[in-house]
Amino acid sequence: MAPSDPILGVTEAFVADPNPRKVNLGVGVYTDDQGRIPLLESVRHAESQRLKTSPHRGYLPIDGLAAYDKAVQELVFGSQKNNIVTVQALGGTGGLKIGADFLRLIDPKAQLWISEPSWENHRQLFEAAGFPVKSYPYYDPATHGLDFAGLQRALSAAPAGDIVVLHACCHNPTGVDLDHGQWDKVREIVMARGLVPFLDLAYQGFGDGLEADAHAARLFAGAMTPVFLSSSFSKSFSLYGERVGALSVVSASAEEAARVLSQLKRVVRTNYSNPPTHGGQIVANVLTDPQLHSLWERELGAMRERIKAMRKQLVEKIHARAPGTDFSFMLAQRGMFSYSGLTKEQVRRLREEYSIYAIDTGRICVAALNSKNVDYVAGAIASVIR
Ligand SMILES: Cc1ncc(COP(=O)(O)O)c(C=O)c1O
Repeated sequence: MAPSDPILGVTEAFVADPNPRKVNLGVGVYTDDQGRIPLLESVRHAESQRLKTSPHRGYLPIDGLAAYDKAVQELVFGSQKNNIVTVQALGGTGGLKIGADFLRLIDPKAQLWISEPSWENHRQLFEAAGFPVKSYPYYDPATHGLDFAGLQRALSAAPAGDIVVLHACCHNPTGVDLDHGQWDKVREIVMARGLVPFLDLAYQGFGDGLEADAHAARLFAGAMTPVFLSSSFSKSFSLYGERVGALSVVSASAEEAARVLSQLKRVVRTNYSNPPTHGGQIVANVLTDPQLHSLWERELGAMRERIKAMRKQLVEKIHARAPGTDFSFMLAQRGMFSYSGLTKEQVRRLREEYSIYAIDTGRICVAALNSKNVDYVAGAIASVIR
């Protein structure tokens, strides 16, 4: 038997818990103030428009819908460029996997670096593609912030040709992001050492906005080649199960881009032939229709602001119930997650005494808090840290 997935295991335990007050802060899914996964209005419109045409169910091209690939490229890089190729992928995971298989084919000697800690699937995914996976320091538990000195030291010593996975915004699991000055420094090191950046952009729009969250992507794409970037629309369109993502590769020239695309197609063809239509078509319709695009931006902004409001309320409520504690570091964190600083023992007590499910590392999904459960969660946290 293979070990069960640690995060999905938390959800299984949550589902089996009969306590009506139970709260699942484990899984990385945005829920609205009613605790439901939203169906965005922009998505509903695009979906009903699509279904009215009774679309056929033929195969998509290997690299997906052309309109989708173009729209994603514009969203991420600000415009289309003939040296960038974008292929539709099965979620952000699919984008990472296509990139991983391609890179392994091109340079079987390269090692791959991920942050410590990182999204829990990064290590397994890249190891499964054949890479030796190493980690660079990222989070400093003492400050609840970034270990930037450690990060720089590790990358400055990485051998040329190695691949570095960077969370482009809203770092999962910590919520701790680099500022612009730190991104500049990382870009310098990556270029000076001859490393290959692989940006993971799973939360564009959840940090400070669509443009602001594309900062790192555009910084690297404007400065060097090659750059790999995986996008996910699972969260930003609330289309988790439709598996909508992409891989973009910034190449040295249009001619190199064409060769890269031909190899990416081989990778896709031998994995799953071609991507599914429905989610990609919806995202393409929303991104290319000015009205739906602006409706989606408003809806995304509302999700982002709701998460920020929940962060603020949680911190204020913990402070009110546990005077002398300081959780203000959570306010500087970005995106759906927070490294709360709770210990494994405190997480166990939350689960056993309050039916509140978090990850053993202390990661909580702030996007699962709402006006009905935030008091209960703050009270429970205040009691287990006492
Ligand atoms: C950092 C990171 N990368 C990639 C993914 C995968 O996204 P998707 O669900 O679209 O495959 C996630 C999802 O949680 C993530 O947090």
